[in-house]
Amino acid sequence: MDIRQYIATKRQQIDTALERYLPEDESTLAEHIKAMRYSIFAGGKRVRPILCLAAAEAVKDFNNEFPDSVMLSACALECIHTYSLIHDDLPAMDDDDLRRGMPTNHMVYGEACAILAGDSLLTYAFDLLSRDVRETIPAHDRLTIISLISRAVGPEGMVGGQFLDLTHEGKEAQYTMLRDIHSRKTGALITASVQTGGVLGSSSPEQFKALTRYGIQIGLAFQIVDDLLNVEGTEEQLGKAAGSDAARNKATYPALFGVDKTRKKAQEALQEALATLDDFDERADRLRDLARYVVSRKR
Ligand code: IPE
Ligand code: IPE
Ligand code: MG
Ligand code: MG
Repeated sequence: MDIRQYIATKRQQIDTALERYLPEDESTLAEHIKAMRYSIFAGGKRVRPILCLAAAEAVKDFNNEFPDSVMLSACALECIHTYSLIHDDLPAMDDDDLRRGMPTNHMVYGEACAILAGDSLLTYAFDLLSRDVRETIPAHDRLTIISLISRAVGPEGMVGGQFLDLTHEGKEAQYTMLRDIHSRKTGALITASVQTGGVLGSSSPEQFKALTRYGIQIGLAFQIVDDLLNVEGTEEQLGKAAGSDAARNKATYPALFGVDKTRKKAQEALQEALATLDDFDERADRLRDLARYVVSRKR
């Protein structure tokens, strides 16, 4: 199976699970739940849940049959990510009209309802994470997962990164700050996704450390490439605005280094990510392929 096929298969599994786990829009809350589902099913590459599954498979044989506990965690990661996109696009933040090839949540449901859809997706993620009907993962592992994800998306991680991103608009950011912004706003959740997979696959402490280092590198690479695509891509190709970082004077790698050096930085992060997997066998090949995919992707 090549990596495109692998991604397509995993995406299908994740979408089926999301369909199963997300609330139905049948009650008095129909409009609210519709807004949550709108952004979840607007598309999206599902990179974070795929990384979670691939990391789990790198340390344990699942034969492509994941227990509920694993799929619940993978879906929770996508709910958190989708919440972050809804809020990121709000007028008070990046003020974008297009996401995943569709009008942004607030363009369809209005600002207040979009904020609430994001709030519910974030909170619902922790509901999913703490569900484990058959108790297939030990309680302490579940607690570890909840702890590392909440840390990754809170003030020290994603939200902190979003704060720094917004407060550095129009300012010249130093490299250390830029790297910090990217590692927090995007890298932290990606790292936590890989770590979650590690815990779900019962990784050894050494494996967990290596997976963490892998996650940090591809998380950074992911946002560096997002910066590049914003410069070089088109709206049609990306399903979201192009050229918007420069227009908003965002602190980005291309703004600081130019496009060529930015591409080199992405390659460096890729090489470092691959090196972290040196002690893994061929079961980590998917993670290796996904690292290459993150850097070569066109959307
Ligand atoms: C976009 O993430 C926002 C960033 C953190 C860079 P993705 O590129 O994973 O977006 P989707 O999920 O495929 O829409
Ligand atoms: C998004 O970063 C990061 C989060 C949503 C946490 P960007 O603002 O750079 O991503 P895009 O380009 O809008 O997807
Ligand atoms: Mg942003
Ligand atoms: Mg944005």
